[in-house]
Amino acid sequence: MNMTQSKWSVGDIPDQSGRTAVVTGANSGLGIATVESLARAGAHVVLAVRDPRRGEAAAATVRGQGSIEVRRLDLADLASVHEFATGWQGDLDLLINNAGVMNIPEATTKDGFEMQFGTNHLGHFALTNLLLPHITDRVVTVSSGAHKMPGSPYIHFDNLNLTGEYSPITAYSQSKLANLLFTLELQRRLAAAGSPVRALAAHPGWAATNLQGHDSSALRRAFMRVGNRVIAQDNKAGALPTLYAAVEDLPGASYVGPDGFGEMRGGPTLVGRSAAASDPASARRLWMASEELTGVPFPEPAVSVRGQ
Ligand SMILES: NC(=O)c1ccc[n+]([C@@H]2O[C@H](COP(=O)([O-])OP(=O)(O)OC[C@H]3O[C@@H](n4cnc5c(N)ncnc54)[C@H](OP(=O)(O)O)[C@@H]3O)[C@@H](O)[C@H]2O)c1
Repeated sequence: MNMTQSKWSVGDIPDQSGRTAVVTGANSGLGIATVESLARAGAHVVLAVRDPRRGEAAAATVRGQGSIEVRRLDLADLASVHEFATGWQGDLDLLINNAGVMNIPEATTKDGFEMQFGTNHLGHFALTNLLLPHITDRVVTVSSGAHKMPGSPYIHFDNLNLTGEYSPITAYSQSKLANLLFTLELQRRLAAAGSPVRALAAHPGWAATNLQGHDSSALRRAFMRVGNRVIAQDNKAGALPTLYAAVEDLPGASYVGPDGFGEMRGGPTLVGRSAAASDPASARRLWMASEELTGVPFPEPAVSVRGQ
C-alpha cells in the first residue's frame, strides 16, 4: 500500500479552471460526487443524465460550487447518444463514463441490446468515439471489482446479449469487464494514432449509492442494504478513484481503485485487473463487435489531427 496515495483527497485536485468535463450518470451516487469535486476545483462540468428533471434536482444540490449545466443523454438509446454528441461544440478536456446499471432484471435497450451491456459498455463506446474529435486530455471509464468475480467473467462473444442464458450477475460482470477491455483498446488506438489523449479506468470499491437498489433479487438487495451501512464508503470517498484517474498524471490504460482490504474502500491507488481484462486480443475483438453493433467507428483521422 502506498501511504502517500492513500491519503489523496479532493483537496489534492489541481486547479481545473478553463477545463470542461462531461460526467455520465451525473445525477446520482458517484456521478454527483464527481461533478461536485471537479466543479469546486474550477472545471465547467456537464451533467449528462437520462432524466433532465433528476439532473436539475441534483445540480441544485451542488450549484454555487462552480460552473455546471445539465444535458440529456440516454445511453440505452443510440439516437440519444448521437444527439448528445452532435450537439457538442468546442473542446472537451475530460469525459467520465460513469453511468451504470447493476444486476437488473432482463431488459433491452432501445436498439435491442441487453440492458447492462448496452448501457454500461455500448452506450459509452458510441459516446466516446463520437466525442473523441473534441477530447483533448482523457477518457475515464468506471469499471468494477465485479469484472473479476468468482466464476471468471468473460465476454460471451458468441452471445453478447446473453439471449436465452441471461443472468443479472453475469451480465453486469461482462459489462464491467467490457469497460476495462474498452479502455485497453482505446488507449492502444490513441497511441497508434499519435494522439496525446489517454484512456484510463477506475473503480470505487463498494460505495453506498442507488446502484444496489435496482438489483433483481430481493435477497441481494437486503444484503446490500446492510452492506451499504456497515461496509461501504460514501459516494464522495467512492468517487476518489475516478477523480484521481481524471486529474493525476498517470500512464494510459491505468486502473485506479481503493487501497483498502479487498479494494472495497480506502484511498485511490493503481490496482490490478484480471487476466481476462488484460488480453489485447479480446480487447480488439470486443472493439470490432462494438463497432458493428453500434455502427460507430474509431474516428482515426480526426484523432490523429487532434494529436498534432
Ligand atoms: N456503488 C458501488 O459500490 C459501485 C461499485 C463498482 C462499480 N460501480 C460503478 O459506478 C458507476 C456509478 O454507479 P453508482 O454507484 O453511482 O450508482 P447510481 O447511484 O445508481 O448512479 C448510476 C447513474 O447512472 C445513470 N444511468 C443509468 N442508466 C442510464 C442510461 N441509460 N443513460 C444515462 N444514465 C444512466 C443513473 O441515472 P438514473 O438516476 O436516471 O437512474 C445514475 O445517474 C456505475 O458504472 C457502477 O457500475 C459502483
